[in-house]
Amino acid sequence: MKATTLRPLALGVAALAVTVLLFGRAQAGDDDYYAPVTDARTLQECASCHIAFPPSMLPAASWKRMMGGLDQHFGDDASLDAETTAAITRYLVDHAGDAPGQASKLLRGLRAADAPLRITELPKWVREHDEVPRSDWTRKDVGSKANCAACHIDAEKGYFEDD
Ligand code: HEC
Ligand code: HEC
Repeated sequence: MKATTLRPLALGVAALAVTVLLFGRAQAGDDDYYAPVTDARTLQECASCHIAFPPSMLPAASWKRMMGGLDQHFGDDASLDAETTAAITRYLVDHAGDAPGQASKLLRGLRAADAPLRITELPKWVREHDEVPRSDWTRKDVGSKANCAACHIDAEKGYFEDD
């Protein structure tokens, strides 16, 4: 008798806990949350060869530099027409890790004059991954450090927790 009256309450509490957890997870400012790309054009043009990297993972200067050299993009020609290039650049710069109101943890330790083209070469990224065993990087399903989603299953949703 006691158990049956308690169960619905327990379920309710569990559901509430899950709701709180999910809601809590969706808050920007979590250490491992980097708001994903929401701009349609950026998603269309920058997510075919790899995930659309969150714009807050690089400073504005990096995005400008990268978007200025899309014809030689890590060995690929990723060039776009001038109008699309300008629109995507604007989106990335507006949401860059050093844009007003942003405080991207990944940019810690980066000097203001630096404009790296790789997230995977940021001092903070390197530090976050220095305990990842060598055998993980050489796994067949990983292939490259830039293949974030191989290890961070929710990378495309902006979550980069340890999983
Ligand atoms: C034609 C394929 C292609 C397209 C389209 C493309 N990229 Fe890339 N991108 C690459 C390759 C290849 C690399 C290197 C990946 C590696 O090292 O494994 C790369 C790497 C990157 C990196 C660095 C990843 C790291 O190592 O930290 C960023 C940032 C990036 N791309 C952003 C963009 C943006 C922004 C766009 C859209 C304007 C874009 N890419 C479109 C092929 C592409
Ligand atoms: C081979 C697997 C692997 C790949 C590929 C990988 N990571 Fe990670 N990443 C990890 C692991 C494991 C940790 C946790 C390390 C620890 O806690 O010691 C981590 C930690 C992180 C963190 C810190 C999370 C936190 O809790 O603050 C960020 C951010 C991150 N990774 C981003 C990236 C990005 C961006 C890429 C792709 C450019 C990437 N990672 C590629 C395995 C990987």
